[in-house]
Amino acid sequence: MSTLKFQSQAVAKPYFAFALILFVGQILFGLIMGLQYVVGDFLAGAIPFNVARMVHTNLLIVWLLFGFMGSAYYLVPEEADTELWSPKLAIILFWVFAAAGTATILGYLLVPYSTLAEFTFNELWPTMGREFLEQPTITKIGIVVVALGFLLNLGMTILKGRKTAINMVLMTGLIGLAVFFLFAFYNPENLALDKYFWWFVVHLWVEGVWELIMGAILAYVLIKVTGVDREVIEKWLYVIIAMALISGILGTGHHFYWLTTPEYWQWIGSIFSAIEPLPFFAMVLYAFNMVNRRRREHPNKAATLWALGTSVMAFLGAGVWGFLHTLAPVNYYTHGSQITAAHGHMAFYGAYAMIVMTIISYAMPKLRGIGEANSNKAQVCEMWGFWLMTVAMVFITLFLTGAGILQVWLQRLPESGEALSFMATQDKLALFYWMREVSGVIFLIGLLAYLASFFIGGKETAKVSQ
Ligand code: HEM
Ligand code: HEM
Ligand SMILES: [Fe+2]
Repeated sequence: MSTLKFQSQAVAKPYFAFALILFVGQILFGLIMGLQYVVGDFLAGAIPFNVARMVHTNLLIVWLLFGFMGSAYYLVPEEADTELWSPKLAIILFWVFAAAGTATILGYLLVPYSTLAEFTFNELWPTMGREFLEQPTITKIGIVVVALGFLLNLGMTILKGRKTAINMVLMTGLIGLAVFFLFAFYNPENLALDKYFWWFVVHLWVEGVWELIMGAILAYVLIKVTGVDREVIEKWLYVIIAMALISGILGTGHHFYWLTTPEYWQWIGSIFSAIEPLPFFAMVLYAFNMVNRRRREHPNKAATLWALGTSVMAFLGAGVWGFLHTLAPVNYYTHGSQITAAHGHMAFYGAYAMIVMTIISYAMPKLRGIGEANSNKAQVCEMWGFWLMTVAMVFITLFLTGAGILQVWLQRLPESGEALSFMATQDKLALFYWMREVSGVIFLIGLLAYLASFFIGGKETAKVSQ
């Protein structure tokens, strides 16, 4: 018994399931590193900090990519009102990506990074060794192949079907994701130039094209759970993506302050990135407005909660915590401190982890043949997961912000001579790091509660009124 409108939407299921498995891995490595921050030699021989860091951040990116792909395979056919062009291709690419991803992570864990580089002929085309882009060159090529097949599949589906604003915005975001990833293959010898182009991937992803992906997925779920007219939602979506691109593209300048780049970047970066919180704020207004104006009570309360939650947390993490350190005179002091880590955590979780969980929450009951929504019992458990993870992330962010403020205060503000050294400062931050670790354990408990909700049965779902 399936409750899908189109059979081929079912290919999304393995993508979502695998994404969640990798998410667990990401958190475990986060906790290992969090402990290494305060117990320096914890697992030191087996899993050095730099390896754990690479695994933590790469698992994050890969599970989000699986999540985006699953989202697209789920919503594009329904929006286009036609079956997916090739479900078979989608399944083959799933296995290719899953195998390549797993092999790469095992490579990080089992052999020294330099050996991995040698094995994979990095010297022929050196692209390794940069944060988030640590993958061996052949893995990167694999990612491009998977992305091309994925875009082909979606493109052909949209061409033969209905062209909705949501599909167009999602496709633009996904094509942008693939195009900007190509800068990962360009690795100039000059470190400043390397960093300059590195941001073309990292910044233009999270503060550019990924916002289109987020906007499109949010729009889709909001239409489904509120029954509000598509025309209203589409108008909001256009405004949001316009604001995102207008502010985000030149906002890249907030990474060019101290890169030996011309000084005008301090103005351009400060001004344009100061506008970047706007699209995130608009998403909060839009989500709450649509839910308040809803035409129906959708039985999937959990999905509605995720949709509202992602808008708020993305605004706090990206908008508020981003703005906190984005003006050049502030960034002069905070650059590369724990403030950066605080912002990175809440922004990635609030915007991208949560938008993926929003659509998983909406789609999974249908993909699993349960119906419009899970049982009340399962939803309550899922909502416990939501609150535990989200509140834990708020605390992780607050503790890291506390650590960051103290770090700047002790190490960077005092006139030279009185400033503490980096390591002496880190010693003084231990209490914050311990509290971050405790919050991280609570985050893990929340994640486990969330996963447990998939295994809770029960028949009764929320009553649908009207
Ligand atoms: C969801 C969107 C966003 C995500 C996922 C995100 C994530 C991140 C991450 C992970 C970093 C650290 C990169 C590194 O050096 O390793 C970073 C840096 C930074 N972000 Fe964001 N960000 C987002 C949006 C924003 C926004 C809207 C602003 C400004 C209003 C902003 C301002 C900054 C600044 C100024 C830095 C550099 C910090 C430094 O100098 O160390 N970010 N961001
Ligand atoms: C829940 C427990 C977690 C713990 C204990 C943890 C811990 C850490 C640690 C220690 C680092 C390295 C910081 C450094 O280089 O000094 C890190 C980096 C990072 N983590 Fe986590 N993490 C957790 C969860 C998450 C989640 C849920 C996300 C996003 C959804 C995330 C995203 C990131 C990112 C983007 C970076 C790189 C940040 C940067 O470059 O500034 N982490 N994490
Ligand atoms: Fe940025």
